[in-house]
Amino acid sequence: MRKARWLIAVLILCAGVALSQKASGDDAADRAAFEAVCGSCHPVSMASDLRSESEWKETIEVMVKAGAKGTDEQFEAVRRYLRQNLTNVNVNTATAAEIAPVLAVSEATARDIVKRRTEKGNFRTIDELKQIPGVDAVKLEARKDRIVF
Ligand code: HEC
Repeated sequence: MRKARWLIAVLILCAGVALSQKASGDDAADRAAFEAVCGSCHPVSMASDLRSESEWKETIEVMVKAGAKGTDEQFEAVRRYLRQNLTNVNVNTATAAEIAPVLAVSEATARDIVKRRTEKGNFRTIDELKQIPGVDAVKLEARKDRIVF
């Protein structure tokens, strides 16, 4: 019985480590794709300001016309990297799909954000966003520079 408990504890620990490695691994892979695709002509620091998702889409189109090359997977990773790190979002006008990755909330929570705004009017402060169930106050605080009202 004791042995079984130990085994379960060890298994849970291993699963946890594997999951966290996967999460950071994916992020690192996206960063690597961003550096490979966007760092071949100029330093990637050229892309360090915050832009909206549609502005980044336009920027990527301009860079492709200028000669930026990569596989579809690499460009998908670049878009993901930009969405998660360098994209800002207007919580009073963006769609749920645009809000979710920037605020690191689920699609369902992002839909609740849109619903609240439609029913009660525009958000004015970050505190009003924190009231919505599913919104993590700490994560939101860390992303506050990326939230536009
Ligand atoms: C083939 C070369 C090349 C590659 C690859 C490239 N760029 Fe550029 N990029 C340029 C050139 C040339 C300029 C300067 C053009 C100008 O005056 O805007 C530039 C300028 C920029 C600027 C500043 C101008 C602006 O739009 O505000 C940003 C941001 C930028 N690149 C982002 C990216 C991103 C993101 C990627 C990866 C998807 C990328 N670049 C890949 C050639 C490239």
